[in-house]
Amino acid sequence: MASVQVVLRVRSSIDDESPLRICDDNQTVDLWNYRYDDTIRFKFDRCYNSDCDHQEIFQRSIQPLLNHVFDGHNVSIFTYGATGSGKTYTMIGNESDPGLIPMAVNEIFSYTSKQHKLHKNWKYNISMSYLEVYQEKIYDLIASGNKDLNLYQNKSGKIVVGDLAESAICSFEEFCKVFMKGNNGRRVAATKLNRQSSRSHSVLLLKVEKTDNSTLERFNSKVYLIDLAGSEDNRRTGNSGERLKESGTINSSLFVLGKVVEALNQQLARIPYRESKLTRLLQDSIGGSAHSCIITTVSASKSDYYSTYNTLQFASKSRNIINKPFAQIENIKPRHDLSETRKRRISTAEDDKNNKKKKSSEIVHIEHEIGTHDSSPGISSNKCGNDTEIKYQLAEFEKKMLSRQEQQTKALLQCLTNMFPESNSQLDGIRSKVEKELVHALPRVATATKNSGADSINVLNGKENSKFNKRPAGVTKNLSSIALKPIENKLDNLKVHRLHNVNKQALDVKPITCSKKLSDDNTLLDMLRKVDDRTARQIDDLLRILNQGDCKSLTLLNTIGKKKAKAIIDFRNINGEFSDIAGLQKIPCFTPNTVRKFVECNMFSSLDVM
Ligand SMILES: Nc1ncnc2c1ncn2[C@@H]1O[C@H](COP(=O)(O)OP(=O)(O)OP(=O)(O)O)[C@@H](O)[C@H]1O
Ligand SMILES: [Mg+2]
Repeated sequence: MASVQVVLRVRSSIDDESPLRICDDNQTVDLWNYRYDDTIRFKFDRCYNSDCDHQEIFQRSIQPLLNHVFDGHNVSIFTYGATGSGKTYTMIGNESDPGLIPMAVNEIFSYTSKQHKLHKNWKYNISMSYLEVYQEKIYDLIASGNKDLNLYQNKSGKIVVGDLAESAICSFEEFCKVFMKGNNGRRVAATKLNRQSSRSHSVLLLKVEKTDNSTLERFNSKVYLIDLAGSEDNRRTGNSGERLKESGTINSSLFVLGKVVEALNQQLARIPYRESKLTRLLQDSIGGSAHSCIITTVSASKSDYYSTYNTLQFASKSRNIINKPFAQIENIKPRHDLSETRKRRISTAEDDKNNKKKKSSEIVHIEHEIGTHDSSPGISSNKCGNDTEIKYQLAEFEKKMLSRQEQQTKALLQCLTNMFPESNSQLDGIRSKVEKELVHALPRVATATKNSGADSINVLNGKENSKFNKRPAGVTKNLSSIALKPIENKLDNLKVHRLHNVNKQALDVKPITCSKKLSDDNTLLDMLRKVDDRTARQIDDLLRILNQGDCKSLTLLNTIGKKKAKAIIDFRNINGEFSDIAGLQKIPCFTPNTVRKFVECNMFSSLDVM
């Protein structure tokens, strides 16, 4: 949870005539109340008077927020205030005094290049998009053309601007070129209050992607840097014709923004984001998942009293908004549908008389699944002719299987623990024996592929190779019986019949009943595989309901009532789909305990393999 930071920047110097006073704590502002001859007090996270330059604002209020970007969080910074109060000046600045946008981008580039030097395994990709909302239409400021872009919510609940150009940028200099070109295209016009008045809201979106090649994780962050058009009192701006029309849409979108803030403060069930394009674009910034900072800009002059009062009112309400940031981390380990693989293995076992040609084509199919298949003529056929290549591919394959998601293995082990009491020492012995069997199968195969054919057979006969023992404990944890299937097929191709026979035995999935003796190793192997299959299927099913189910179908799940169902849907709407069930913990009403209970009640309770 993080409340929206709201800071105040006062444009003109505060003199005796000014109705505004900044208190010594630099957080409190008093505004003179003419009607009652007293003061109205407003509180901010920080107040900056006209002596403060961009550097100070950046260092105090923006830099700490940007640190979240590098952990995979979204960050949003936007200016709000009346026309002429200094929003564009604050965000863009000028050549002698660059504003917050250039400073933020420069900071991102210097941080990422430093980090890349320190951690060679970390790779950064940065891209930018730039758009403006003009008269409720969205225009791309990078791509040429004057097309009104489509704004919609995608399947995972994220707000997307269709066809918006995304430009990869490798340096600050490159950014400046693209940004300046975009800025020149932005709609600006003179009014009585501002010679360079923004007639549109502009949104600069930076995507920062950090890939950690050692942990195979990808951190995806977005930084929104937004310069809003200012509210306008048309009696003062003297607008007419097109300017008046523009002013009407600017004011009405800012009015909806006020409504959204109000609704969030009152914790209403419906937040009117959809009532304007601006609020839909800001959905992640206010009441969403970003760390946000609103820079409110006001003038200290007496003539701007009412617009200053309105801005302060908006700002103080915004301070109560709580966002729920979380890290957007993606696992980039290769993954494939294991239950499908298992099904194919069973059918292969049933049809034991299949010829080698058929098996060979299955190898190619599996390789496609895991992305190792190379269609180049020398490698693709794999018809026993090119042993070295097959061995190499086996080794590659093993590596990929080793890195399969730990979560499924954990679920399987948890499942086993649930099925059999921990005190059953006989079972513990069998379980560890089974694990050893499964865990050692792959290293043996991998080593077999590195050795000559004769060595391979020795290894597969069970003669331990010292290299196996050097495998770190953490690695072996990731193994499960599932990995045996492709290995079996490939070894069959290599005519290593012994392992084939072992696996053939393991593939005979028989109906399992409670009366089966636990001391029967083969039965336990079968049971393990069947449980693993079901676990994988149930995880998929459960995840599908969590990601796609409506309130009614969610409440059909054990431990989910209406309140939790609504919280799941709300979370989904803001943050998109859950990548795993553990993601439920990001919702405040789900503690690690409730998530564990949810999994137990919806998965393990319904297992009928015993
Ligand atoms: N803090 C400041 N110090 C010096 N000059 C400023 C400051 N703030 C604004 N200005 C100047 O005031 C003028 C108006 O500022 P700016 O265009 O940033 O207003 P705005 O809030 O973006 O208005 P609009 O909503 O009409 O776009 C500009 O010429 C700008 O250089
Ligand atoms: Mg402006």
